[in-house]
Amino acid sequence: MILIANSEGFPGVDVSAQKLHTGGDGLRAIVEGIKCVEADPRVRTVGYGGWPNVLGEMELDASVMDGNTLRTGAIGALKGYSHPVEVAYRVMTDLNHEILVGEGAGIFADEIGASRGDNLIEDSKRVWWEKLEQAMTDEEIQQFPNVPLAPLSNNATDPERVRDTTVFLSLDHSKKISAATSTSGWAWKYPGRLGDSPIIGAGSYADSRYGACACTHTGEMSIRCVTSHAVVMYLKMGWSLDEAVYEAIKDLQYLKDGYTEGVTIHAIDKHNNHKVVSLNCPGPITYWIWKDGMAKPEMREAEVISTR
Ligand code: GLY
Repeated sequence: MILIANSEGFPGVDVSAQKLHTGGDGLRAIVEGIKCVEADPRVRTVGYGGWPNVLGEMELDASVMDGNTLRTGAIGALKGYSHPVEVAYRVMTDLNHEILVGEGAGIFADEIGASRGDNLIEDSKRVWWEKLEQAMTDEEIQQFPNVPLAPLSNNATDPERVRDTTVFLSLDHSKKISAATSTSGWAWKYPGRLGDSPIIGAGSYADSRYGACACTHTGEMSIRCVTSHAVVMYLKMGWSLDEAVYEAIKDLQYLKDGYTEGVTIHAIDKHNNHKVVSLNCPGPITYWIWKDGMAKPEMREAEVISTR
């Protein structure tokens, strides 16, 4: 058994590890862990306490994938609900669809009785508006939000505001491999922007025959390289986990135009191995790991590749 979560997973890794340890289903174990992250305002990039879009609205993305069935569930730009990852799970279990976005995702969340919540905290609101005020003329401030939003959404590339997410991967007692993600996306993103977290194959992928992968940081890059599916496909080709992850890093390094910054790849294989490699992400990058035999999840440093 193995559990991997990125650094933002700290509020939920103990819960997930405990559920795996007691023989729980791996996908439910990581969904329950992510719900703890979504509820914790110390994590500024996920759920309650995350960052709003350029209009000051919280739009949340999440996904799940069951590596036995290759069924997925994802929601994008969901407004007003506390646990997007649970709504994504119910897309998988209750619908013949794999992804819902925007208004339709909200209708479905209501229909399943998902818990409602205003995820915008006062501090996020204050910082959001301060940043916009600096970027707008006095006339634009008067007219907001009836102003061009594209230039303002470029604030989303502010290096002081991390654009992160939470990702969890598991291999459970039955050898089922699962992946789940949740994020509020980039601060000041253009309304309706989806990152990689709800895009299966980009932000996450799981196949119990081979392994699983999930990405954090610049979703615009992992979408273009379909990074998570690429890692699992390289495993399918018979490559080792290290080789698979380094090849996916090479794919990302090929990107020259568009918005390119950093991506951190988290991956596991069916043999209980794991690999976390960070390409051009700012600061030391840590992650959480738990394997059977470990008393508690432990924090480790990712391998860092910097080309800048
Ligand atoms: N990786 C999270 C995002 O790009 O929204």
